[in-house]
Amino acid sequence: MIVCKSPEELARMRVANQIVAGVLQELQAMAAPGVTTADLDATVEARVLASGATPAFKGYRGYPASLCASINDEVVHGIPSMRELVQGDIVSLDVGVLIEGFYGDSALTVAVGEISDEADTLLRVTEEALELAIAEVCVGSRVSDIGHAVQRHVEAQGLSVVREFVGHGIGTKLHEEPQIPNYGEPGRGPRLAEGMVLAIEPMVNVGKSAVRVLDDGWTAVTRDGSLSAHFEHTVAVTAGGPEVLTRRSSDVRAVAAGSAAPAS
Ligand code: MF3
Ligand code: CO
Repeated sequence: MIVCKSPEELARMRVANQIVAGVLQELQAMAAPGVTTADLDATVEARVLASGATPAFKGYRGYPASLCASINDEVVHGIPSMRELVQGDIVSLDVGVLIEGFYGDSALTVAVGEISDEADTLLRVTEEALELAIAEVCVGSRVSDIGHAVQRHVEAQGLSVVREFVGHGIGTKLHEEPQIPNYGEPGRGPRLAEGMVLAIEPMVNVGKSAVRVLDDGWTAVTRDGSLSAHFEHTVAVTAGGPEVLTRRSSDVRAVAAGSAAPAS
C-alpha cells in the first residue's frame, strides 16, 4: 500500500527535508581537496543534531555513519573514512534525517575542484535526468513514467542506468512503497495520487550499468571501474504538480530549468 500524507503530515515532511537540503548545501561548499569524508560525516551529524533531528542512516541495518560518501567509481553507500578528497574527484553525498516521526532523504554528486569533461557531463546528465523524472510527478501519472524519463535521457547521452538500486516512497519510514526503478516502459505500475511522497534517485554510470558490493558489505562500485553519479530528491505529489521538498537554494540548474521551488 502506498501511504498518502495529509497536509499536516506534508508540512512535517517539508521540515525534515529542508534540514537535509541545508546540510547538503553546506557539504557542497566543504567538498575540497584535503577534506576527508569522515570530516563531512562529522559535519552532517553535528548539523542534523543541532537542528533537532536524528541522522536516518546511522544504525539503519547496521550502517555505521550519518552520511553516505561515494567517490568516483563508487555508486552509493560509500562509508565515510580518512580518505582525503583530491582535485578531480567526484563525490556523491547522501543524507537522511528523521524528525517528529518523518524522514527526509536527498543526495547530490559534487565536483572536487576542476574535473574532467567526462565527469562534468556525467554530473550534468544525471541531474537533468532527475529533473526530467520529477517533471513526471503529477496526479494520475504512473510510477514507471518516472524511471522511463530517467532511462530515456541517460541512454540518449550514451551513459547507463544502475538497476540494482531503486528510489522509494518515504514518510514515517525511510523506505516505503512503491519501489521506483530508474528504467522501464512508461504507463506501468500504480497511479500517483495527491499526498504521495517519493524519493527519486537516479544512479548513472559512464560505462556499463553493472555494479558490485565491496567486502565492507555496503560500498557499491561499478564493475568496470567507470565513474558513477547519484542525485536524489524527495518529491510530494500535489494537485499543482511536483513539490520538491529537498530543493536547495543553490540548485542553479533546476532554477535555470524553471522548476525551482518557492524560496525557503
Ligand atoms: N538514500 C539512500 C536510500 O534511500 C540511503 C540509504 S543508506 C543506508 O536508500 F545506510 F541507510 F542504508
Ligand atoms: Co533514498
